[in-house]
Amino acid sequence: MAKAKTVAAGDPAPPATLVIFGGAGDLSRRLLTPALVNLTRDGLIGDALDIVVVSRGPDEGIQTQLEEHLELKDKAIKKAWGTRRKRVSYVSGNFDDPETYTNLAKQMAGDANVAFYLATSASFFGTIAEQLAKAGMLDEKSGFRRMVIEKPFGHDLASAKALNKKLLSVMDETQIYRIDHFLGKETVQNIMVARFGNAFMEAVWNNRYVDHVQITAAETVDVGTRGAFYDATGALRDMVPNHLFQLLAMVGMEPPNSFGAEAVRNEKAKLLDAVRVPTNAEAKKQAVRGRYAAGSAGGKTVGAYLKAADVAKDSRTETYVALKLLVDSWRWAGVPFYLRTGKALTARDTEIVIQFKHNALAMFRDTDITKIPPNKLVIQIQPNEGIDLEFVAKKPGPVVDTARVSMDFRYKDAFDLGQRTGYETLLYDVLIGDQSLFQRADMVERGWAIVEPILRLWGKDGAPEEYEPGSAGPAGADALMTRDDRTWHPID
Ligand code: BG6
Repeated sequence: MAKAKTVAAGDPAPPATLVIFGGAGDLSRRLLTPALVNLTRDGLIGDALDIVVVSRGPDEGIQTQLEEHLELKDKAIKKAWGTRRKRVSYVSGNFDDPETYTNLAKQMAGDANVAFYLATSASFFGTIAEQLAKAGMLDEKSGFRRMVIEKPFGHDLASAKALNKKLLSVMDETQIYRIDHFLGKETVQNIMVARFGNAFMEAVWNNRYVDHVQITAAETVDVGTRGAFYDATGALRDMVPNHLFQLLAMVGMEPPNSFGAEAVRNEKAKLLDAVRVPTNAEAKKQAVRGRYAAGSAGGKTVGAYLKAADVAKDSRTETYVALKLLVDSWRWAGVPFYLRTGKALTARDTEIVIQFKHNALAMFRDTDITKIPPNKLVIQIQPNEGIDLEFVAKKPGPVVDTARVSMDFRYKDAFDLGQRTGYETLLYDVLIGDQSLFQRADMVERGWAIVEPILRLWGKDGAPEEYEPGSAGPAGADALMTRDDRTWHPID
């Protein structure tokens, strides 16, 4: 069971030390430091948070390096950074060298609460955990000892299980915070409030009214300089068992009894358990892979994936995936969930579309209306965060005719979203001990188990279908929908 939070949400986090392994790198500069500064500005972490960066090279002025992405022209940010900056220190050393941990222990002498953030290559996760355990730094004798683990958590079911086993042999599940950065997005957290805070939504949120669900994470960017990582990973591993399954779980889960971490995670885990693991034959039919050719996307020229730096010339790695999944639960029996994600597509667009069933047309039989477009609820995760409800209205005039119209809620019209990186809530939750937005071991493993047959199939043979950059993906993805007499919601 998760421990109770150490402080109430909204109160400043307790005094602690945040040790960031790989803390001189891109994640730390681009996202973690700005998030920590925003939390300081908002009074959610006070003076008493020390930051220790552990990195392999010598200290080349870590404070200045961490400033790279801060808006220091903003007075409040400058002031908050002033507070944080003087509490940043540096330990240089290799992650597999016990001496690094001896030096780290000296640096942290007397610190009670410590969160270790592993912003390193995944190959170090197990090693760092083991070394910390050997040095006795994971014992929660005088305060909390927590570990934050970035993606990727394994690259298949076996490796995820092995990593969980290793971590759980040196610490308790309550100490582990597996990050899925999608859960830091306001709009993702809003899915629960939209569903369970609004009676009319939950009333129709089932197979009686919903025809199908689409979950899309489209990007215009190509693999850029990430060729080495991406070619060994591919779109399926990179986005589906983690980010897209988290969205799937949020949309599909039963109402938890509270916002408590275990209550929420149990319901998500139950939903993932109900996702049918495709058979080999189903994987062949229900999973489509694509790879972008040369062209342009998002106003930029895109070179073919096969020509990208650090990508094997004979690579069979996919940059696009579309899937149809079925959920064997009382609520969702018979409602397909279609998931798709890809790079170098026509627009950046992460959204969830709940498409409702067609209405009975009986009343319209004496009119020219033969089909009424179905209602759609579009939860726009990013950009233009919001929720749109598509419905039909009568066209003005003497004859009965209908037109599709939409009610649009945009977050920015109702709230001041401020400058946030998406990591604020996640870091704050680590410090106050709230695991609700973090992946539990069983959820990660289930995610891999669902995609395992597809990984196996694609690993054996075949190649991704090419698609034009700037398009909505390969023709095979459209065929997946056409077969079911459905169409994708436009990516825009
Ligand atoms: C990461 C993937 O986890 O998520 C990237 O490794 C992807 O390939 C990114 O671009 C998308 O995240 P966001 O927040 O930009 O939608």
